[in-house]
Amino acid sequence: MNGSYQAVKITDNVFWVGAIDWNIRDFHGYSTNRGTTYNAYLVLGERPALIDTVKESFAEEMMSRIASVIEPSKIKVIVSNHAEMDHSGSLGRAITEIRPEKIYASKMGVAALNAHFHQDWNIEAVADGSSVSLGSDKITFLEARMLHWPDSMVSFLESGRVLFSNDIFGMHLASSSRFEDEVPDWFYEASKYYANIILPYSGVVETFLKKFSASGLRPAIIAPDHGPVWRKDISRIVDLYAKFAAQKRANKAVVVYDTMWGSTARLAGAAAEGLITEGAAVKVMPLQSHHRSDIMTELLDAGALLAGTPTLNKGIYPAMADFMTYMKGLEPKGLAGNVFGSYGWAPHGTAELKQYFEKTGIEFAGTAVECKYVPDSAALEKAFELGRAVAKRIASYG
Ligand code: FEO
Repeated sequence: MNGSYQAVKITDNVFWVGAIDWNIRDFHGYSTNRGTTYNAYLVLGERPALIDTVKESFAEEMMSRIASVIEPSKIKVIVSNHAEMDHSGSLGRAITEIRPEKIYASKMGVAALNAHFHQDWNIEAVADGSSVSLGSDKITFLEARMLHWPDSMVSFLESGRVLFSNDIFGMHLASSSRFEDEVPDWFYEASKYYANIILPYSGVVETFLKKFSASGLRPAIIAPDHGPVWRKDISRIVDLYAKFAAQKRANKAVVVYDTMWGSTARLAGAAAEGLITEGAAVKVMPLQSHHRSDIMTELLDAGALLAGTPTLNKGIYPAMADFMTYMKGLEPKGLAGNVFGSYGWAPHGTAELKQYFEKTGIEFAGTAVECKYVPDSAALEKAFELGRAVAKRIASYG
C-alpha cells in the first residue's frame, strides 16, 4: 500500500483516483449541503493516462490513490477536460510528479490553463472530434463549449466505452459510494446541479446532446468529475438533461419573500392560499430559511414565481437583491408570476422587483400587490386573488 487512499475500480482498466470533499458547504455561491467529490480517473494500458485532476488542497489524496495502483511516473498522458480549478488545481503537482510525455486540452483549454497557471507546460491542443492513441487503446475528444466554460470538452475511452464527461452529468454529493446505483437519493442533487450550474446553457445542452448522438460514440459508462459514476443505466441522467434543457414547466409555484415586521410574510401566506385554492402545487420559501440555490432547484420545473419584499431604503431587501441577481444570471425560461410587498411611504421595493422580473423575462400574471405598512383584510384579499390569478395562468401545465 502506498499511502492511505485507495483507487476504486470502474472498469478492468479505469480507476477512480479523485477526492471526497465532505466538508465544503459553499461552492461559489451554491450550497453544497452534502459536500462534493472531485473525480479524476486513471486509465491503465500501454500508455497510462490521467484524466483531469482535483482541487489543489486534495492533491495529496489524488496522488495517493494513483500510487495505490501504479507508480505515478509510469503515466504517459494527462488530459485536462476543463480548466476550472476544482479540476485543474492539482495539475501542477501531477505534472511535477508524473512528468508526462503529453498533456492534452481543448484549444480554449490550453489558453485557459495558461491564463490560470502561467507555466511553460507545453500543453497540446486537440481538435474537436480528434483522437489520440494510448497504444492498444484510444481516446476521442469532443468539445463541449459553454458546458459550462468555453474550454470544456469531454473524452471518450474506447475500451469499456467510458465517457469522461467533466462537469456535465455531475452533481455535488460526497459519498463513500462511487456509483449511482449505490446512491439511491441522487435525484435532488442532480437537479440542483443542473439548476445552479448548467441552466443558463440549456440551449447548449440540446445542441451537445445532438452532437454527441451524431458522433457515433456510444458510452456504456459516464464518468463525470463530480458525484457518482453512471454505470447501470446512463440514459437516466442523459434523458434527465434533455428534460431539464427543455425547461418544461409544471403546475407549480414558488413563493419567495423576505419580511421586516411580518407584513410581507402575511401577504405571502395569502398568495400561497390563493395558489393552493386553484390547485397549484406550492413551495413557500422565505429567504431567511432557504438558500438561493435550493430555491433555484425548485424553480427548475415550476411554472410560476411570486416574489415579495418590503421596501428598505428605497429598494428591495438585501436577501431579495441577492436572490434576484442570482436568478437573473441563471436565465430561467418560461416563468410567469408577479410581485408583492409592504412599504412605509413609497413602494420602491415592488417597483424594483418588477424590474428584475422584466430583465429575467418573467411574464406578469395577475395584479401586483403593494400594501402600506400592515395588510388589512382588503390587502390580504388582493394577495389571495394574485395567487389565484397566477395559478390559473399555469393550470394547464402538467
Ligand atoms: Fe467542476 Fe466547472 O468545474
